[in-house]
Amino acid sequence: MQIITTKQELQQMVTACKNQNKTIGLVPTMGALHQGHASLVRRAVSENDVCFVSVFVNPTQFNNKEDLAKYPRNIKRDAELLSTIGAQFVFAPTPEEMYSAEEMNSTFQFDFAGLDSVMEGKMRPGHFNGVVQVVSRLLYLVRPDRAYFGEKDFQQLAIIHHMVERSSMAGTFGSLQVIDCPIVREQSGLALSSRNERLSDAEKQTALAISQTLFRSLEWAKEPGATVAAVQQRVIDTINAVEGLEVEYYEIVDQSTLLPTDTFRHAIGCVTVYCGPVRLIDNIKYDADCH
Ligand code: PAF
Repeated sequence: MQIITTKQELQQMVTACKNQNKTIGLVPTMGALHQGHASLVRRAVSENDVCFVSVFVNPTQFNNKEDLAKYPRNIKRDAELLSTIGAQFVFAPTPEEMYSAEEMNSTFQFDFAGLDSVMEGKMRPGHFNGVVQVVSRLLYLVRPDRAYFGEKDFQQLAIIHHMVERSSMAGTFGSLQVIDCPIVREQSGLALSSRNERLSDAEKQTALAISQTLFRSLEWAKEPGATVAAVQQRVIDTINAVEGLEVEYYEIVDQSTLLPTDTFRHAIGCVTVYCGPVRLIDNIKYDADCH
């Protein structure tokens, strides 16, 4: 496995692969890799001739400087994991390599057709602008056939689909396919996240109530007379009743538009919860047999 730190070297490697007609899979990450990332990389390795993984804690998507400073980083451990699962190239640039000073402070606004005005977008102004800034840069540099993203960040995935669909009309990313990968959970149900590293053992135990409540809500949604508003509120109240947890939002929205919905059909519930100082997100898709 080769670790690349410059854009120039990255593009040389990509060109060499393209010249040999190799298909390319890209897995963008911010490092602190866990088995959720590993499942994306395994899939990219199995579906493409070559797999590139980017490891870059993207400063432009953090609206909270403390969160950026505390984001876990461990490139040595990440590289070990990636080499055992067969990724061929790791792109790990510095922020200065990735962006000019002007780009770092860019206030350019992408148009997300409202997908960014709810949930994470509302709570973290500028966040999705930063995500799309870095993801589009990586897609330009690597020109992959397939790019892999986890469904835990469901709103991010919806926004990336939107960005790629709009750009594909102009042929910007060729025949790129964005591949949605399901959430990977611990056996306990806790959704894997790099932020889990910041939880103490006790907090990790407390955090279990998040996924447990989401799974219980699938049953609540099937109760006679259940409404979206009532289930939404019941999830918020149940999680808030656990000492050490505080819900920032729980919204049941349509999976395509991310707008509030009054039916469980094609709906997804997205939650953000503070477990002590750590901000965790999770989501659950409601079944077709709910109301
Ligand atoms: O989901 C993430 O880890 C990041 O938002 C991404 C897609 C790698 C962009 O920095």
